[in-house]
Amino acid sequence: MDSPVSKLTAASARLALTARPRRNRKSDWARRLVRETRLSADDLIWPLFLLDGAGRCEPITSMPGVYRYSIDTALEAIEEAASLGVPAVALFPNTDPALRDPHGSAALDPENLVCLACGAIKKAVPGIGIITDVALDPYTSHGHDGLLVGDEIVNDETVAVLTAQAVNQARAGADVIAPSDMMDGRIGAIRAALDAEGFENVQIMSYAAKYASAFYGPFRDAIGTNKTLRGDKRTYQMDPANSDEALREVALDLEQGADMVMVKPGMPYLDIVRRVVDAFHAPTFAYQVSGEYAMIEAAAANGWLDGERAMMESLTAFKRAGAAGVLTYYAPRAAALLRRG
Ligand code: PBG
Repeated sequence: MDSPVSKLTAASARLALTARPRRNRKSDWARRLVRETRLSADDLIWPLFLLDGAGRCEPITSMPGVYRYSIDTALEAIEEAASLGVPAVALFPNTDPALRDPHGSAALDPENLVCLACGAIKKAVPGIGIITDVALDPYTSHGHDGLLVGDEIVNDETVAVLTAQAVNQARAGADVIAPSDMMDGRIGAIRAALDAEGFENVQIMSYAAKYASAFYGPFRDAIGTNKTLRGDKRTYQMDPANSDEALREVALDLEQGADMVMVKPGMPYLDIVRRVVDAFHAPTFAYQVSGEYAMIEAAAANGWLDGERAMMESLTAFKRAGAAGVLTYYAPRAAALLRRG
């Protein structure tokens, strides 16, 4: 047969290559041998949504497979996650609208949903770490993370309330305080207040580089601020066009006592994760946010991609970018898959 292709593929077509990178990819064992990063359940933090009542487990339309749990059903889910090796959960409340006011007063209530959940989790699942979010948005009637005076989110007054919120959470049993509000100076103020109250062992994971992102859409649906949020959060969350600014934010939070820092969102911001890790060598986490989760799930539901593979690939990408771990709604599912091998 003398086709044009057989002429091209004759022995004489062999390239004189010394390096053939494909040799290390020739089989599964060879690929495993040279693999640079590995995802494990230890890398996963599970964000979960709480609501009032008992026996409730309410689906969130824009996040298929994610639920709002009452404390009792949350405990079962958290116990399951812990048994799969997930080291920590991050709690987010869907506060009863009747309890929201312009000042976010319910954030300071020692019996709010998050505080009650902390106590219950500590008792029922003592081995799992509890991370609580510091920001006022689940508690304000206007949906902002801070106090609104006229059209302005006022910084220093907000920090005073956030500091009290953090101490309230520590008293309830939170292990890690995670300020997600992006006010200036809040890490130092929270650290000082925690120390003054005897909580020097409570860690701070700061949302250090948090961007004003469209990818938070489904989260606002989950905590019920999608309809109430007035305007946007661009005067406090970062401009997606900036990268050097992220390094300045991280530097400030580390100086002020953050034990761990976070970049958020995740997948579109892996360049930021890598820069932060290389610049500071501090434990750096990434948040694969609600919109990222929703995108993968929507495409998978349409048969446009393999959801399970996309989940594992996206989580591995965070590790490759240098993240110490990932906050992800996939945490229990990914941990279960890792366990099965
Ligand atoms: C608010 C907060 C947000 C998220 C975590 N904490 C949303 C926002 O800033 O509006 C988003 C998480 C997600 O989208 O999964 N303090």
